[in-house]
Amino acid sequence: MTTHGDLPPGRWQAAARAAGLLRPDGTVAATIFAEMTDLARRTGAINLGQGAPDVDGPATVKHAAQRAIAEGHNQYPPGPGVLELRNAISDHQYRHYGLDADPDTEVLVTTGATEALAATILALAGPGDDVVTLEPFYDSYAASIALAGARHVTVPLVPGPHRFALDVDALRAAVTDRTRIILVNSPHNPTGTVLTLDELDAIASVARRHDALVVTDEVYEHLVYDDVEHVPIATLPGMRGRTLTISSAGKTFSFTGWKVGWLHGPAPLVTAVRTVKQFLTYASGAPFQPAIADALADDETPRALAHSLATRRDLLCSGLVEAGFQVVVPQGTYFVVADGAPLGFDDGVALCRELPDLAGVVGVPVAAFCTPGSATARALASRVRFTFVKREDVLRDAVGRLGRLGRERRG
Ligand SMILES: Cc1ncc(COP(=O)(O)O)c(C=O)c1O
Repeated sequence: MTTHGDLPPGRWQAAARAAGLLRPDGTVAATIFAEMTDLARRTGAINLGQGAPDVDGPATVKHAAQRAIAEGHNQYPPGPGVLELRNAISDHQYRHYGLDADPDTEVLVTTGATEALAATILALAGPGDDVVTLEPFYDSYAASIALAGARHVTVPLVPGPHRFALDVDALRAAVTDRTRIILVNSPHNPTGTVLTLDELDAIASVARRHDALVVTDEVYEHLVYDDVEHVPIATLPGMRGRTLTISSAGKTFSFTGWKVGWLHGPAPLVTAVRTVKQFLTYASGAPFQPAIADALADDETPRALAHSLATRRDLLCSGLVEAGFQVVVPQGTYFVVADGAPLGFDDGVALCRELPDLAGVVGVPVAAFCTPGSATARALASRVRFTFVKREDVLRDAVGRLGRLGRERRG
């Protein structure tokens, strides 16, 4: 275990502070995700904390990667990604959204969406710039913004009975001429919100007014439910020229460990990001890239996954409601946010630490997706995120355990 005295000064401290990991004595805490996964392992609780599927993606895609290894795709792939995959990304974007992306100059393959986000923020934002995100936000955003030396400004998503909604007035106040990037995430982790056309319009309009770039994290693009539609913000009038669209194969095809991601947008922006990305990983995933190129031609696998996830969402949501949690049913992603307040739990962090003992289930507090101490962190303090990307029998077991907790709490 590293002690305070051993830790060197450096930019890492800004990243740790931004992610809420720097303790007052200067030591570093594990992320709440690591803490909760460890807790699940130690206690044998069902881990609904980490968003990793417990069933792999299609065997055909695995075989394609195995074949690629056997056929010798084992050395550095080209820095921008193999052409076959860049073509498949370009075709995918056109087929689904009517978005044009030149595979040679406007598409970049990355080591997961995480590297696409980091390289983009490092390439395009720096000291003196604001990067505006929604809050709560995926935890890597705050760390990457801090590493770039930019200022992180957030706009709350506000819980309602049916969805979390963008606070449009707060958005208009947050975006100024200092704003370099508006970083959007829809479908949104952790709230499960899919931004409406009106909300996307509001973002597009402030981006145009203040000449800000838009970076959009769409890793859950295919995981939307009921009649909800995911609309990439790059398709809105005047937005293609100022938007970088990021996605990845991890969630769409249930291969989160392969870390094949990508981005696309106007050539000058992609060139800027590629310049940084080549000094981060340069390239990765040589045998996985052609396998994902094949997978991207298949629209049925993501459709079937979304269909089965909708059933699993309903199973977990009704179990949580039955147990006494208040739930905002997600429109997309594979997470649901549940409020422990009706059961008498006002502190989601404390609840998550107790839940393995109380119910044999693990979740993560929504506060972990907020700026430490922010108004949104306080407003969402009693909320916990659970994933439903687990087998139905696992979810049924979890729901049974949570039900017993509910009955005990109600006496
Ligand atoms: C909103 C969001 N963006 C990015 C990522 C990371 O994607 P990848 O595993 O492709 O790096 C995740 C993973 O959980 C996520 O939820």
